[in-house]
Amino acid sequence: MHDFSNQVALVTGASRGIGRKVAEELASHGAYVVLASRSQAEVEAAAQEIREKGGEALAVQMDVGQIDQVRSAFSSIKENVEKVDILINNAGIARDNLLLRMKDEEWGQVLRTNLDGLFYVTREVVAGMVRQRFGRVINITSVVAHMGNPGQVNYVSSKAGIIGFTKALAREVASRNITVNAIAPGFIETDMTTEMGQKVKDELRGSIPLKRLGSVGDVAYGVLFLAAKEAGYVTGHVLNINGGMYM
Ligand SMILES: NC(=O)c1ccc[n+]([C@@H]2O[C@H](COP(=O)([O-])OP(=O)(O)OC[C@H]3O[C@@H](n4cnc5c(N)ncnc54)[C@H](OP(=O)(O)O)[C@@H]3O)[C@@H](O)[C@H]2O)c1
Repeated sequence: MHDFSNQVALVTGASRGIGRKVAEELASHGAYVVLASRSQAEVEAAAQEIREKGGEALAVQMDVGQIDQVRSAFSSIKENVEKVDILINNAGIARDNLLLRMKDEEWGQVLRTNLDGLFYVTREVVAGMVRQRFGRVINITSVVAHMGNPGQVNYVSSKAGIIGFTKALAREVASRNITVNAIAPGFIETDMTTEMGQKVKDELRGSIPLKRLGSVGDVAYGVLFLAAKEAGYVTGHVLNINGGMYM
């Protein structure tokens, strides 16, 4: 169904978890994929695996929250590809703590990565999308942006900010045939959720109508849908992929 031949997709946070699966799926459906993360070795390993399976992939090192690194990463991206058609803003971190114990650094690191990073990377990419009158921007937020979560005022603020960013930009670039959407995953089995512990996970499963945590594939399928040319009439939307946790 999906054919991304002759299209370039940039996926941030692609060295593992959701981003890696998204990059693999886009590549297996024909896209040339640029994978970015802070760790050069890990993101190169992910790109190499895609190439070994016959896909086309380029690895770049970048901390999305550091403007200098974003600028230099884009210099090297532009040496290799002429355009980016699909941008998946997936890089994200959590540094959980109760508000009264939260350190400035925990607040700052999360906002810098999840929100400043979104701004820096999207600004670089959208200029080219405007010129070519086509683009798909997909931002990964979270179910907690809708529901709130104790111990996560920093993370939830950043994820709610991503939804606002998505809707504002969707209106700004719609006339250029660029769609901007968000995906709000529920709890997905990745490194981010392994820290939760088995007891918490079991309780969580009980509260999810579909009675399981999500897989990275569940989220990647949503990305394929929103990235498709056929989804050109969907913009400013937040797609819940959460097993029914929040409706
Ligand atoms: N897992 C869940 O249950 C869940 C639920 C809702 C939303 N999400 C969101 O989904 C996204 C992916 O989550 P995940 O569970 O796949 O996380 P993960 O397994 O921890 O992977 C995070 C990815 O982001 C990269 N990254 C982190 N900080 C970065 C930075 N400053 N610059 C560039 N890359 C960075 C990491 O690579 P490096 O460490 O090498 O940089 C890694 O590739 C995040 O935005 C997260 O908030 C996850």
